[in-house]
Amino acid sequence: MTAEKAILTLGDKKIELPVIRGTEGDVAVDVSRLYEEHRILTYDPSLGSTAVCQSKITFINGEEGILRYRGIPIEQFVTKTPNFIEVAYLLIKEKLPTMTELLEFRTLLENNELLHENLRYQFRNIPAGAPPMAQLSAMLSNLACFHRDLLVLDNDEEFLQVAARLISKIRTIAASSYRRSKGLPYIYPDPNLRYCANFLHMMFSIPYKQYEISPAVEDALNLILILHADHEQNCSTATVRTVGSARANLFASCAAGVSALWGPLHGGANVEVMEMLKGIHDGGLSPEDCIRMAKDKQNPFRLFGFGHRIYKNYDPRAKILRDASDKVFSQLKMKERDPLLDIARKLEELALKDPYFVERKLYPNVDFYSGILLRAMHIPTNMFTVMFAIGRLPGWIAQWKELHDTPNSKIMRPRQIYVGTPKTDYIPREKR
Ligand code: ACO
Repeated sequence: MTAEKAILTLGDKKIELPVIRGTEGDVAVDVSRLYEEHRILTYDPSLGSTAVCQSKITFINGEEGILRYRGIPIEQFVTKTPNFIEVAYLLIKEKLPTMTELLEFRTLLENNELLHENLRYQFRNIPAGAPPMAQLSAMLSNLACFHRDLLVLDNDEEFLQVAARLISKIRTIAASSYRRSKGLPYIYPDPNLRYCANFLHMMFSIPYKQYEISPAVEDALNLILILHADHEQNCSTATVRTVGSARANLFASCAAGVSALWGPLHGGANVEVMEMLKGIHDGGLSPEDCIRMAKDKQNPFRLFGFGHRIYKNYDPRAKILRDASDKVFSQLKMKERDPLLDIARKLEELALKDPYFVERKLYPNVDFYSGILLRAMHIPTNMFTVMFAIGRLPGWIAQWKELHDTPNSKIMRPRQIYVGTPKTDYIPREKR
């Protein structure tokens, strides 16, 4: 059978290009040798039509609203008792763990949950009101100073060690930054608690009173982390891969991922959604105002939590969170339903029948409902993107590993089309 080819015609030149097909039918024209062999570049500024790797981790079909981790539909992880650690293992180790493997992985996380005391003291020098995402990125970078033996990884065992350090310590760092911002004492992790419960304990216990962990809150947190665990080549993951392509270590690569995630068009959107919903609730805006402003091209306002580069249908994660929110609210036995949930539902109802949103296929994304659930758990708004980062970390690690293990992988080095001044001469200062 002859290999499939695409033909590029440019002037009187006909260039044959190899075609790559993914297991789910994705088709790509391989232009990787186009410049080297023909001195022609392709132009795709935000990489909307460009696959930068072949990956076995996550599959998304944006038209149909499908998301799968290692082939397993996202919905199947949340129907039974959700378990973020199992999903993290699946992403990183490429298979679901057996009971023994899961216990071993838990123990590994347990053994790594403490921060080096000197790293912990570094929080003292950070201003109390510092943005938690800035603290998280700095502290993940700082981990490299304390684990120098793991900067170069020689085998899978060392890789698992560094992955476990990151996945375990990110919770401790996140909770510590929150405690510091509130002037509260640091709470040590409790090895008897599971991953999510332990995080809630470090966030909300006080030295003389253990925080009582509700199973509903623990499950909801597990659910949120699972839904954020990977999302193929999004902005932060592409950043982790780009930094990793220079053979930068995993700590530095993940710290860069945190910085990318912080942006309001990416992970930072969950904070913007909450501010928008609060703005409506407190009377500054109405849902109708928001829709009007979002459609006004003269107004920079966007309907945060709506739209996605890949999903041109309902984001499956948003659907799960929307459906979960009612259940969680009733399980949490909250005295009143959060009015922000009703506002969110109203905004969604208005947008989904508005031609502007319908024509552009703008549907709620994961950030639209996640904040309402986090708020119900008393996670403060400025920690929302940190929660996203905790969830996304296993995905970043798995993607970094995949790149690391790809034979002959090259440093990421995009090209440009220069459109500046043609060659000109330097003008001496006195003549300008
Ligand atoms: N509100 C109003 N209009 C929007 C929105 C929105 N939320 N999103 C997209 N549009 C409009 C754009 O103005 C553009 O209109 P035009 O064709 O008339 O110029 C059209 O829809 C296409 O939008 P783009 O920005 O070109 O789409 P892109 O794929 O580049 O952006 C993005 C995707 C960044 C997510 C965008 O939809 C957005 O800004 N949404 C709000 C922020 C947000 O919720 N981000 C979280 C994304 S999920 C995640 O990262 C976890």
